[in-house]
Amino acid sequence: MQQRDTVVVLSPGGSAREAEYLAGKIGAPLVGEKDGGPGLTVRFAADGVSLQADGMTLRVDLADALPRLVPGKLQRELLVKAARVKGIPAPVAVDATAGLGGDSLLLAAAGFTVRMFEQDPVIAALLRDALRRAAADPRLADAVSRMRFTEGDSLDALANLPAPPDVVYLDPMFPERRKSAAVKKRFQLLHHLERPCANQEAMLRAALLACPRKVVVKRPAKGPFLADVKPSYSVGGKAVRYDVIVPPRAQ
Ligand SMILES: C[S@@+](CC[C@H](N)C(=O)[O-])C[C@H]1O[C@@H](n2cnc3c(N)ncnc32)[C@H](O)[C@@H]1O
Repeated sequence: MQQRDTVVVLSPGGSAREAEYLAGKIGAPLVGEKDGGPGLTVRFAADGVSLQADGMTLRVDLADALPRLVPGKLQRELLVKAARVKGIPAPVAVDATAGLGGDSLLLAAAGFTVRMFEQDPVIAALLRDALRRAAADPRLADAVSRMRFTEGDSLDALANLPAPPDVVYLDPMFPERRKSAAVKKRFQLLHHLERPCANQEAMLRAALLACPRKVVVKRPAKGPFLADVKPSYSVGGKAVRYDVIVPPRAQ
């Protein structure tokens, strides 16, 4: 299922149950301590879950986003501006492409309850682990208490929501948008895993059929509209743009 040979490593203190689940799910061998190797390694250890390849390690730490969550700054985040819904005290967002959870965290910190879906089993393992550690961090616990993660295909999930959400958020690709070279390199590991959203039209259709007040789509600043659908308006920055589609009946 993965693009490169993947090995799941269970190190002392790691969760055997989760390592076994992932190995079974992706058809990868589950081994004990291991020194590198030519392919991808997903390591379950006492300090969490990490992805390793080409001498690089990626472990998700949602606390990295703390400087962006301070009051004042958070409200100026383009995603928060694009997702804002007026007059709803406890808004609900669906993040249909949760990835490593950074964008969901911004929405949750801004007051949204966020239902997150991620289909890649390795990314899901990294995210679950990051959420667990963040829940134990008093600086993040309040926001994380509003983040509900489910591993699976959001096309199915969007068709089976218990009620229409206020916002559906779509970020279908990992564009080259990180500033620091080191961070950029680390995130290159994800390119070994992630499959671009197979059918962007189906994703947008599913989002609209969920009857949200708005669909927010993250695009590279100069990238084309998702599925060629012209948005109602856009909130643009230097590197990224958020296209906002307001379905007519919700206007
Ligand atoms: C660009 S990443 C999202 C990054 C995310 N916004 C963040 O803050 O980390 C896109 C993610 O969407 C996931 N994805 C694509 N299609 C999906 C689908 N149909 N259901 C669930 N996840 C999907 C990919 O596996 C990938 O992890």
